[in-house]
Formats: sequence, structure tokens, C-alpha cells
Amino acid sequence: MSSELSPIDKAKFVAAKKAVEFIEDGMRVGLGTGSTAAWMVRCLGERVREEGLRIRGVPTSTRTAELAKQVGIDVVSLDAAKWLDLTIDGADEFDADLNLIKGGGGALLQEKIVATASDQMIVISDVSKEVEKLGAFPLPVEVIPFGWQTTQALIEETLVSLDVLGRSASLRMNGDSPYVTDEGNHILDLHLKRIGDARQMAMVLNQMPGVVENGLFIDICDRVVIGYGDGRVEVRDINAGTIEENMVDFVESENLFSDLND
Ligand code: A5P
Repeated sequence: MSSELSPIDKAKFVAAKKAVEFIEDGMRVGLGTGSTAAWMVRCLGERVREEGLRIRGVPTSTRTAELAKQVGIDVVSLDAAKWLDLTIDGADEFDADLNLIKGGGGALLQEKIVATASDQMIVISDVSKEVEKLGAFPLPVEVIPFGWQTTQALIEETLVSLDVLGRSASLRMNGDSPYVTDEGNHILDLHLKRIGDARQMAMVLNQMPGVVENGLFIDICDRVVIGYGDGRVEVRDINAGTIEENMVDFVESENLFSDLND
């Protein structure tokens, strides 16, 4: 039942529900990872089952692939799809230019490849992820396991010359072991507090040997759909310069919430 959802889950749900309205029959769609993206996958599955929407979905993680198959979405690889019409994904932070920090859920590499191979990217979020300057959320950087401590030292040394407020990096853990991504890599979380120049930071990080990819998504996102716990959604389109507000009805989707309790 929707009444049992927390306000934050309601906000994530309404953002996801609104965003799937942008998906049209025949589209190839990138499916993001994380708790907000999981709502989007469920809402999209509902459209596939109820409206007979024919789409192909390219998941950005093994978790999303499993959920997408469960809800009836035709899952294909990025190489099979080649190019995508639209990717919908969550974010850890977004700013006024719709630049993002992603990777809190550890899937930033596939997420960035998939979003970059899409005509459009829509981010779905609750309002708490909006920031004036990126960087309060630790910036995830995917590194290869070989020599990761040397890579960490190199990153920390380089941060001294960049416009940031914090300069430490920590290895992401999964219990007692280092976290391992879908590609078999590790993640260093950079505690920068505030990133003065996100574009420069993204370029500098990706030039270091040992770094596979960083969680800054610069000039990739086209729209953000921001959800609120009372059902309001705001759609901001960075290219058109428009902001629209709507309400999303929870009642229509009660079956999605009851499925969660099965
Ligand atoms: C996954 O690697 C991330 O990029 C997620 O998209 C991001 O962490 C947002 O996750 P939530 O929707 O769970 O907050």
C-alpha cells in the first residue's frame, strides 16, 4: 500500500512514475541502478504488461537486469541495442546545470557508458539530491584492483592542486572485503566536500593510470524529474529551459506497492 511508503520512497516513486511517461513504443531504453531506478523499472514493467508497450531495456547492473526480467521487460545488451533513445537513472547529487555525482550504488561505469550512448538522459530524484555545488556526497572513482593503494596515493597527491575542500580517499568496503564492481574493480570514495571545478576534476581523474572511470556526469543529463512525498513532480529540461509541475496519482499503481509485500 502506498500509505506504508516513507515520504522519501513516495518522492522516488512519483519521480520514476512521471519519467516513464517519456518512454514511447519501440524505444531502446537504458535502465539505471539504485533505489529510485528500481521504482522506474517497476513502473516501466507495469506499462509493458498493461499497455503492451514494446521496448528493449539495457540494464546498467546485474541487479537491474534481474529486476527488469522479473517485471517483464525485454532485456538486451548494449552491444545488441547499439544506441539508445533514452536512459533513466537516479543520482546522488545534481546541480543547476544538471551535472551529477553518481556511483553511490557502485554501478557508475556501466551507468556512464549507457547514458553516454543515449540520445537523452533523464535523472529521477527526490529533492534532497539537489545541490548548489557538487561534492558533499563522496565522489566514487572506479579503480582497477592492481596497485589500488598506489592509485589512491596518486589521486590524493593530485587533489592538493585542485579546488576542493577535502582531500582524503577511502576504499569502499563490502563487510570485511573491498567492494567489487560488476567489472571486477574497486571503488575509491573521494571526500572532497566541495568540488570547485567538476569538469576539470573529471578530466584529471580519468587521466590517471589505474582509474577506470569517475562518478561525475558532466553535460550528459538532459532532464531531471524531481519527486516530492505529496505526489508533486517537477520536470526541468536543461535544453529547453523549461520547468513543469504535475501531480502523480498513487492510487493507479497500488498493485505495484502490494507486489512489494509478496
Ligand atoms: C548507482 O551506482 C548510483 O549511481 C545511483 O543511481 C545513485 O546512487 C542513486 O541511488 P538511489 O536512487 O538509491 O539514491
